[in-house]
Amino acid sequence: MGRVAAGRERGSLYNVNPPIVIAIDGASASGKSTNARIVARALGFIHVDTGAMYRTLAWYCLKKGVDVHDAQAVTALCRRWNATLECVGGEARLLVNGADPGAEIRTVQVSQATPVVAAVPEVREWMMQTQRRCLQFGSLVMDGRDIGTHIFPETPFKFYLDASPGERAKRRAAEGIAEDIAARDERDVRRAAAPLQIAPDAIVINNSHLTSNQTSALILERVRQDSQTTSLASQ
Ligand code: C5P
Repeated sequence: MGRVAAGRERGSLYNVNPPIVIAIDGASASGKSTNARIVARALGFIHVDTGAMYRTLAWYCLKKGVDVHDAQAVTALCRRWNATLECVGGEARLLVNGADPGAEIRTVQVSQATPVVAAVPEVREWMMQTQRRCLQFGSLVMDGRDIGTHIFPETPFKFYLDASPGERAKRRAAEGIAEDIAARDERDVRRAAAPLQIAPDAIVINNSHLTSNQTSALILERVRQDSQTTSLASQ
């Protein structure tokens, strides 16, 4: 096999060995998850929304009455919670006590608590191990804040999505979510452990004026081009 082909058009690459990881990082409301999902479907890869994993932990802390500002208590909970990975319909996610928390992880309260728990180094270590274990499901399109810099720094497929602050705020408002995303971004950029950064070899796409179909087409084009010049070409 010479290149990364569209799953639907030319047969899925789900079982490419070794599996491929496409890392899509970026700030809040930069379109990471939407585009990661489109790209994953086009290639027949598994989509992993790592923000959802951090949200799930924050949600569980709130549910259990654990103070998210108490790093020790958050670490203790993260070490003992019954969280398991499952992959359904091309999406990998975390279940807690066997159940999917669903939309409960998308509330403003959980959004505000998430960057606080995400700044705890022990939490990031747990997430790193868990996110790397997603390779058991096959080739991945993983979106987050540190995928290209920390989780899979060796992947040649790294993208960083950006959009103007005004456009990102507009997107959140269109989803009916009144959230101060600038404050969340500030926390994500300033934390000591794996802060939001652009990997030096990432392709940066500013999609302020692009639709998700246009953004994902750019990513797919680049992946197909690059796959001819990397080790994938010999598979
Ligand atoms: O992507 P999403 O906006 O759902 O992420 C929620 C929060 O999870 C982010 O603001 C960030 O604090 C944290 N996060 C992270 N590292 C990732 C993904 C998300 O710290 N890889």
